[in-house]
Amino acid sequence: MIPILDLTRQYRFLKRELDEAIADVLASGQYINGPNVVAFETEMARYIGTEHAVALNSGTDALHLALRALDIGPGDEVITTPFTFVATTEAIGMVGATPVFVDIDPLTYNLDPAEIAAAISPRTRAILPVHLYGLPAAMDEIMVIAGRHHLAVVEDCAQAIGARIDHRRVGSIGTIGAFSFFPSKNLGAYGDGGMVTTSDAGLAMRIRALRSHGGQVKYHHDELGVNSRLDEIQAAILRVKLPYLDEWITGRRANAACYNVALDALESVDTPYEPANTQHVYHQYTVRVHADRDHIAARLRDRGIQTMVYYPIPLHLQKVHGELGYGFGDFPQAERAASEVLSLPMYPELDDDDRQNVVDALNDALSLAHS
Ligand SMILES: Cc1ncc(COP(=O)(O)O)c(C=O)c1O
Repeated sequence: MIPILDLTRQYRFLKRELDEAIADVLASGQYINGPNVVAFETEMARYIGTEHAVALNSGTDALHLALRALDIGPGDEVITTPFTFVATTEAIGMVGATPVFVDIDPLTYNLDPAEIAAAISPRTRAILPVHLYGLPAAMDEIMVIAGRHHLAVVEDCAQAIGARIDHRRVGSIGTIGAFSFFPSKNLGAYGDGGMVTTSDAGLAMRIRALRSHGGQVKYHHDELGVNSRLDEIQAAILRVKLPYLDEWITGRRANAACYNVALDALESVDTPYEPANTQHVYHQYTVRVHADRDHIAARLRDRGIQTMVYYPIPLHLQKVHGELGYGFGDFPQAERAASEVLSLPMYPELDDDDRQNVVDALNDALSLAHS
């Protein structure tokens, strides 16, 4: 069986360091707001290239508290993509604002900047691009539009930690970056975790207060906040892993390059696109299949290869967003992607044999589909 992701290989590689770091926290007696959280915030801010980083309980909370800190609420609109995980729009709903969808660019699967201007209304407060699968959205174009209309930009970096446009890492380009450390992410904890990054000191301070019941000082509560802390054990684990992240990205990119060479020859498969000035971090290696995608996925499963569809139903067609009034046909590129994309096994430790098995099985499945 070749799984889409195998986290046990990474654990085996880091076992000694991780076990030691966890044992140190357990022995310290300090499990919340301890030195590992503080140090991890500093290390992440340096890695991403922002002045501040605030550790939180999840990527969903990172998006939610970013919007809260920007004072986005009922009556406000936030422009985003319909082709993402539901947490993106959940966060918009959590602050009482309304998601306004814009279709994706079929090459990148990210927000199509050419479609954004038409969606801006007097109620628009922010643009929320998602760097889907690990590929940065068209941030230069998005920042120009946001600047022209005085809009905040919240980057959903959950899938794209370490990805770059030129030398700038995602999470340092918009007003605020939101990260997830869910275990399967490229930098994953062994539980939930998240973070915001920003170079705006006021926003960072506000998010620090919001994550801790709405107060700067213990037992002094200025507004309704939440409990959204990254715990000390997860911070210690993430501190062990962060120094390896760039190496893992290199491994993912090498695997993607090998997949590309093997699959580019296939007419019925489009391999992932990477603009020239952009570094994709291949959280997912996702191809577009011009054949019966679900049938191909079933054939791969029969050969012991796990694949996934991220995401089979675009958000504008999800029941949860029914009241927004969108219908089928509103975002044709997102709808087409939802029926054609297929993510193949991808992790830094994937070896030549695994990769070859995936390529052979995909080849065979496609030839059968066309015969
Ligand atoms: C695009 C996107 N946004 C937000 C999230 C939410 O992150 P978390 O699971 O840490 O709440 C995820 C993670 O699953 C995601 O993929």
